[in-house]
Amino acid sequence: MSAASSHTGPEDPGLGSGTLQNVKKVFGMEGASDLVAVKDISFSFSSGEVISLLGPSGCGKTTVLKMIGGLIEATSGEITVSNSLVRGPYENVGMVFQTPTLMPWRSVISNIKFPLEVLGKQLTDIDDKAISLLKLTNLTEFKNAWPHELSGGMQQRAALCRALIHSPEILLMDEPFGALDELTRMEMNDLLLKVNYQEKNTVIFVTHSISEAIYLSDKVHVFSKRPAEIRKTININLPHPRNPTDRYTDYFKQLELDAGEALGVIR
Ligand SMILES: Nc1ncnc2c1ncn2[C@@H]1O[C@H](COP(=O)(O)OP(=O)(O)OP(=O)(O)O)[C@@H](O)[C@H]1O
Ligand SMILES: [Mg+2]
Repeated sequence: MSAASSHTGPEDPGLGSGTLQNVKKVFGMEGASDLVAVKDISFSFSSGEVISLLGPSGCGKTTVLKMIGGLIEATSGEITVSNSLVRGPYENVGMVFQTPTLMPWRSVISNIKFPLEVLGKQLTDIDDKAISLLKLTNLTEFKNAWPHELSGGMQQRAALCRALIHSPEILLMDEPFGALDELTRMEMNDLLLKVNYQEKNTVIFVTHSISEAIYLSDKVHVFSKRPAEIRKTININLPHPRNPTDRYTDYFKQLELDAGEALGVIR
């Protein structure tokens, strides 16, 4: 059994799955020549999988993530998520960015419920969902706190709850733990896997960190320098659930070496 198949997603295998086919992004630059951010990216993902996009700064990772989320349009190529062509923003997606972006004038719980207000959803089932997410992320005691009263890691946990409140099939995360200290980041990695196990959504995770990508993922796509292409795809066959000691095994070290070589940082 593959590592991915041990924590599969919802019953319809199409939900949360997706494909990028020959996706390219060129930004028009005023008074200068066009900037090719993403040259040609193709990959697919299955429901419930955790996929990392690993690559050097400025190579086009955020651009790819935004195209998957429908926030920016691909110049050419095709993206499908949950059997539908991505043509613009859509509801069935959650996003977490590097900075928590909580609204400082709203309490934690009010921040978490905010997307549902925007979507005009009935608030009846939401309290249960919010309470279950707060519990899962160990924030129950802080539900009425203000964002500034939380540590960076706690703010990111709240941002994760907010991204999941409408039960999206796909969760896009752009270096969400990049600003955290190493210890907190490792804790957040385990928490994210726990959340993924419960929520069963697909996660596309952007990171600079080789070890984070390996620990979290079923598959790591290593990007080239800009314009982004996939240099190498590394299948991660670590067992689920992960154990922090997995990080210190020979297999893990070999994967780090493979990723480092693909990035060009180890020659
Ligand atoms: N809206 C935009 N208009 C013009 N150029 C852009 C735009 N967004 C991104 N770029 C350019 O596209 C390239 C890729 O940017 P992107 O933010 O996707 O990289 P990244 O891999 O996420 O970098 P980092 O790791 O530093 O976050 C960069 O050269 C950037 O300047
Ligand atoms: Mg980025």
